[in-house]
Amino acid sequence: MEQPMQGRVCLVTGASNGIGKAAALDLAGMGASLVLLCRDRGRGEAAMAEISERSGNRDVTLLVADLSSQRQIRAAAASFLESGRPLHVLLNNAGAIHAERTLTGDGIETTFAVNHLGYFLLTRLLLDRLRDSGRARIVNVASALHRRGYGDGRIAFDDLNGERQYGAWRAYGQSKLANILFTRELARRLDGAGVTANALHPGVVATGFGRNNRTGWMPYFQALYRPFSRRAGQGADTPVWLATAPQLDGVTGRYFQDRRERQPAPQALNDADALRLWEVSEKMTGLVQP
Ligand SMILES: NC(=O)c1ccc[n+]([C@@H]2O[C@H](COP(=O)([O-])OP(=O)(O)OC[C@H]3O[C@@H](n4cnc5c(N)ncnc54)[C@H](OP(=O)(O)O)[C@@H]3O)[C@@H](O)[C@H]2O)c1
Repeated sequence: MEQPMQGRVCLVTGASNGIGKAAALDLAGMGASLVLLCRDRGRGEAAMAEISERSGNRDVTLLVADLSSQRQIRAAAASFLESGRPLHVLLNNAGAIHAERTLTGDGIETTFAVNHLGYFLLTRLLLDRLRDSGRARIVNVASALHRRGYGDGRIAFDDLNGERQYGAWRAYGQSKLANILFTRELARRLDGAGVTANALHPGVVATGFGRNNRTGWMPYFQALYRPFSRRAGQGADTPVWLATAPQLDGVTGRYFQDRRERQPAPQALNDADALRLWEVSEKMTGLVQP
């Protein structure tokens, strides 16, 4: 069997379920060294065992971190860096929608904290290793729902914690718009560094997405869209392609769906917002003092 990713180290966040687990399985099948980042040790170990068993690839390890905690992100990144391993693919995938507004231990609205700052902080902490590893790729799972942004299509820089107005889809749409703006600014800063960054919409995929919301209308919504959804393996197709396809060497700062480049919403192409988001995120994650 061809092993096109032999010798390549791939870190996948949210690999305990859904698109992330399916992507990790595909990458393991291509011979990659897999690092699964999961928030729950039990689910992470179960995913690790399933991926090893189904792919026949035993080179799968686990990092446990809840991405809503900046302390845990830092500890996971430090543990990976201490291992001395190179990093060729960072697949930022872990994400969720929250029917109710909650704050993380860091005092940040959970959707923004996990879906955007989780990608941002982990990437920043691993960036030098990606740079040093050669021909590395960062793949950020966004969503077509980025078009909604914070209701008006933009990032509500004056209400990132959803204090003024909170809605699950608002917070989610904003976080997914942030994924694309982050990818854009990241690609700009990485120009010439040998590391690419791209974002994607995986399609509407039947996963555990939304299942963390036990109450309200979310379970009904899921039941409604499930028959029209693609399977997790299909949802993983574009992220895995972005992480591995040789013809994408050097392609960066773009947005894809179904292996095709798509034009994101105009607000996702706003360089001033991308820069502002970067600077705000640096302060919110303590990379730069406010
Ligand atoms: N499904 C869709 O139709 C769809 C459409 C567009 C975009 N997306 C995006 O696709 C990505 C994957 O979602 P999915 O559909 O595969 O959903 P999923 O089945 O719920 O998987 C989400 C993964 O993220 C993990 N996760 C959630 N919160 C986390 C946290 N605080 N710390 C660490 N890990 C956390 C989950 O861990 P647990 O197993 O512990 O819960 C799980 O492994 C998300 O970014 C989502 O926004 C999905």
